[in-house]
Amino acid sequence: MIQVMGRLEKQSRNERCTSPAERMMAITPETGRFYNILLRAMGASSVLEIGLSHGYSTIWFADGIQDVPGSRITTLERDSSKCSIAGANLREAGVDGMVNIRQGDAADTLDGLEGPFDFVFIDADKENAIGYFEACLPLVRRNGIIAADNTLDMREMRPYIEHVRRREGVRTVTLHVGWGQELTARL
Ligand SMILES: C[S@@+](CC[C@H](N)C(=O)[O-])C[C@H]1O[C@@H](n2cnc3c(N)ncnc32)[C@H](O)[C@@H]1O
Repeated sequence: MIQVMGRLEKQSRNERCTSPAERMMAITPETGRFYNILLRAMGASSVLEIGLSHGYSTIWFADGIQDVPGSRITTLERDSSKCSIAGANLREAGVDGMVNIRQGDAADTLDGLEGPFDFVFIDADKENAIGYFEACLPLVRRNGIIAADNTLDMREMRPYIEHVRRREGVRTVTLHVGWGQELTARL
């Protein structure tokens, strides 16, 4: 696992040389460690991720929950080549058996998913983040968490922050971790 994480981190640092379609656009290592610790503290066993890319964040999540028997990650990605690359990375990290990759547009692949999830991570097309949040909220257990990346570096996430701050039935906080994380607990 350490080897594949190191390779992906190096690739992430050199992304300016990569074509936009091939970019990982991954969370930072600090963000990965943060969610890994959070998932361990929660005793989480079920994770839903929207935006798999090459599987970097997924491996951090898998490492955080794998000690809990029956732990599972469902992850959504529309790009088929990224699904193949992520599948290979997850295999190399030894966590492919606990990850279910659903390829397609998240608007479709979210349909029919059954909760409850302990933790949801929203990290795909920013313009649909509010829609993903509303679709996921009923799938999250009480006191479970919906988190979103890029809340400090991307203007497109501003409406999302305003939405969750106004939303009834949740408690939310913006954290200066990585590119900015919005953590929202379902009350
Ligand atoms: C920021 S990257 C995810 C990075 C990943 N979470 C990590 O940190 O390693 C966003 C990913 O979401 C995918 N994506 C964008 N819009 C999508 C959609 N509507 N449905 C499914 N996946 C989508 C992109 O192809 C891209 O791989």
